[in-house]
Amino acid sequence: MQALVLVGGRGTRLLPLTETVPKPVLPLVDRPFLVFFLEWLGDHGVDDVVLACGFRPEVMQEVLADWAGDLPSLTWVVEDEPLGTAGAMRHALGHLEDEFLALNGDLLSDFDLGELIRFHREKGARATLGLKEVDDPGPYGLVELGPAGEVLGFSEKPEDPSALPPPPWLVNAGTYVLDRSIIEELPPGEALSIERDVFPRLAGDGMYGLGLEGYWMDIGTPERYLQATWDVLEGRLETSVPVRTDGVLVHDGSEVSPTATVGPRVVVGEGCTVVEGADVRGSVLLSGAVIGPKASVVDSILGGDAVVSDGELVEGEVRGQAPVVQNRGRDAR
Ligand code: GDD
Ligand code: MG
Repeated sequence: MQALVLVGGRGTRLLPLTETVPKPVLPLVDRPFLVFFLEWLGDHGVDDVVLACGFRPEVMQEVLADWAGDLPSLTWVVEDEPLGTAGAMRHALGHLEDEFLALNGDLLSDFDLGELIRFHREKGARATLGLKEVDDPGPYGLVELGPAGEVLGFSEKPEDPSALPPPPWLVNAGTYVLDRSIIEELPPGEALSIERDVFPRLAGDGMYGLGLEGYWMDIGTPERYLQATWDVLEGRLETSVPVRTDGVLVHDGSEVSPTATVGPRVVVGEGCTVVEGADVRGSVLLSGAVIGPKASVVDSILGGDAVVSDGELVEGEVRGQAPVVQNRGRDAR
């Protein structure tokens, strides 16, 4: 099975971490995020991945090179200018098979993609959207379903809460099975959004949706990136990362003073320094961050070049840039 993965977004909600490193290869727990993603696809029979990218593809290639032997085969399609989620698919048309999975590249999930593909074929659908039930549909694409699973309406990031239908709310989980003809019909070279320009038009015309059970998280905001980190460490989805009930992972090659408090829920990356009396909670320190004496870091993500000075309190912040390359196979303690 083939999958087209959208990895060309700018990742603005995670700035400044994503200033030089694209969101899909930010480190998550102990590896580049996209490695979790590609392992998920590989576990569901995907053997051919087309990566639709734009921002710094060379960084993604460099980061993933270490993992190549364990991942499905990758084809890189690069946009000179961002073409939007549908424009990017049109740009990759020459690589697409008649039926393919299409996915947003910022999802951490264990959804059963095989179930989505089976449903799509049973319905003879042109497009099938994987859906997730949520408490707040505001940041997502809200989908209205008919009794046979047909999509009646699609509204991207609904703004007016008073206009929402009654719950339960099923939203677009960024996981689709698509017929190539949908992409063929789009004009080439134009910026187009699959959520705003294509899906609303396909409602009632062979588009279906299927609610999926399991873990699902879009890692594209600081809060969700942190939650995904704790979910991996605490085993809320199955990965090859050993479960740690306190959610604490300290990588080898970091220095943590015995008088510092680290945890609950902390990742200390390689080459970080946490000196005496410092207090770090609910936070991720990426390789190289330095936390000064008696400083506190709470619910924050700090890039490799971040320095927190003596006695400073950092709370709910994203600071510094992510490190570019992650070497594989370093042990954690
Ligand atoms: N190649 C390419 N070109 N990729 C792009 C572009 C582009 O111009 N713009 C965005 N992407 C990629 C992003 O890298 C990301 O992987 C994916 O498309 C979705 O973009 P986001 O910016 O993360 O969208 P979102 O999270 O606000 O909303 C989307 O995902 C929700 C689920 O997490 C929508 O699909 C919503 O409908 C959906 O509910
Ligand atoms: Mg997203």
